[in-house]
Amino acid sequence: GLPERVRIHEVGPRDGLQNEASTVPTEVKAEFIHRLADAGLTTVEATSFVHPKWVPQLADAEELFPRVRDLEGVRLPVLVPNSRGLERALALGAHRVAVFASATESFAKANLNRTVEESLAVFEPVVTRARDEGAHVRGYVSMCFGDPWEGAVPLHQVVHVCKALLEMGCDELSLGDTIGVATPGHVLGLLSALNEAGVPTDVVGVHFHDTYGQALANTLAALQHGVTTVDASAGGLGGCPYAKSATGNLATEDLVWMLQGLGIDTGVDLGRLVATSEWMAGRLGRPSPSRTLRALSHK
Ligand code: HMG
Ligand code: MG
Repeated sequence: GLPERVRIHEVGPRDGLQNEASTVPTEVKAEFIHRLADAGLTTVEATSFVHPKWVPQLADAEELFPRVRDLEGVRLPVLVPNSRGLERALALGAHRVAVFASATESFAKANLNRTVEESLAVFEPVVTRARDEGAHVRGYVSMCFGDPWEGAVPLHQVVHVCKALLEMGCDELSLGDTIGVATPGHVLGLLSALNEAGVPTDVVGVHFHDTYGQALANTLAALQHGVTTVDASAGGLGGCPYAKSATGNLATEDLVWMLQGLGIDTGVDLGRLVATSEWMAGRLGRPSPSRTLRALSHK
């Protein structure tokens, strides 16, 4: 069966804009987040408190977050790579943070300048302190399916990192197909392997990139397995600056169109969302790859 309701975890302002060649002005980012909230998205990942040299596109986190933090009824998670990032986020009143681990050594090194185990050791006190402060903690796992340097990723590596994140206190996980190579059978295989290792499906979200056009098919497979949290990015913005060949996330419009057709409630106003992504595409100066957006486009 399929779930009655799906929570969309919108990542456009973070995963989308971190990968843009040009840096988007802070006021445009703030308007983007406000418009996404107006379109009915209730979880909008706002920015990252990472090293500004590593991701210059999000170096304005201190300026941006105060402009959006009082939005009513919207959860605004932010990425934190270490204690320094967590303290920056807490100082601004963030209630939701996300650490981001990797299932592979190559990406842990490229993205975090650490081994897998070293990065987990960095996250442990971050998760503990965040929870002591009453914050909700998401644990991302990147490269859950394939890795550009290492190829297919063994399930046991993913299971190991997922269990470590839950044991240190993460409230939820997000399984990242960072480079978009997953196919539905692989998704079901990983979800089953996690269940067999004692990880319940209700703490698992999915995060697909659409490089090979499989993101919606992978999402449907995950929903049929019982997943109810799906990451997506408005207009299909996105990628990852430290993962070659990563393209945009599953477009939120494409996800909403499919869920509407399945009779699954999301609370999102598709017309307003399309208008927002069209506006953002105009600001970025290039068309959105979302098929649903193009079909419903006003131009
Ligand atoms: P490092 O160079 O090893 O850092 O980078 P360090 O710990 O050695 O510290 C060096 C200096 O940086 C120190 O300053 C620190 O204070 C400072 P100094 O004492 O030399 O003056 N520093 C910081 N400053 C500000 N904010 C901070 C911070 N941390 C240290 N948070 C580090 C290690 C983790 C910091 C770096 O590698 C980094 O920032 N990486 C972030 C990469 C990133 O954001 N990637 C994209 C997000 S992940 C993603 O997109 C995947 C996802 O979408 C899921 C999927 O698709 O798979 C989530
Ligand atoms: Mg991503």
